Amino acid sequence: MTAGQAGTRLLIVGPPGAGKGTQAIRIAERFGIPTISTGDIFRANIANGTELGKKVKAIVDAGDYVPDELTNALVTDRLSGADAGAGFLLDGYPRTTDQVRYLNELLASHGHRLDAVIRLVADQDEIVRRLRQRAIEQGRVDDSEEAIRHRQDVYRRETAPLLEMFREQGLLVEVDGLGSVDEVTGRVFAALAERGLGEVAA
Ligand SMILES: Nc1ncnc2c1ncn2[C@@H]1O[C@H](COP(=O)(O)OP(=O)(O)OP(=O)(O)O)[C@@H](O)[C@H]1O
Ligand SMILES: [Mg+2]
Repeated sequence: MTAGQAGTRLLIVGPPGAGKGTQAIRIAERFGIPTISTGDIFRANIANGTELGKKVKAIVDAGDYVPDELTNALVTDRLSGADAGAGFLLDGYPRTTDQVRYLNELLASHGHRLDAVIRLVADQDEIVRRLRQRAIEQGRVDDSEEAIRHRQDVYRRETAPLLEMFREQGLLVEVDGLGSVDEVTGRVFAALAERGLGEVAA
């Protein structure tokens, strides 16, 4: 991360199964920025059997949050990559108050700040349906019925309260996450354009 460089800095938030990863790829492509998904990074480390992967495997499989210290260090390292200098879209981070504080300070120390926080809103029934489908397709250990329920509880307790903070900071952009992938992407682009981020979809 280089001080003073222009770029778009976005977060995408929402409960497990809201479609963050799917939308993140499209949004990042449009803005020419990398997607940084802490969940994907943890899963890759687990799959590759790295030291980090060994440390977090049991936690991630159970659907608990990895300790802030580890997660913050991981993000600091990733944001120092050359490709993140011109902006980024963070998926799955920050998700605790400590992570929000940490990220804000990290960005501020480089003269940066967030441009918007995209919240994908989806109802419970749809989310459970999607996660069941994904469990069949991707076989994620944390997509078992029990782990899903637990992840939803953790989200409600730890992460949902952050939305109020983002709203107070004037960053929150709420988007209906129901409908086709294209429909949701269109809504995200339109909502960001209303805030002067990106062009209105042609
Ligand atoms: N910011 C974070 N802080 C702590 N743990 C995290 C963080 N990001 C990811 N993890 C760990 O990785 C797991 C998977 O994260 P990921 O973001 O992929 O899943 P999710 O948001 O629960 O679901 P979805 O993939 O549907 O968005 C989490 O349950 C947690 O164990
Ligand atoms: Mg995801």
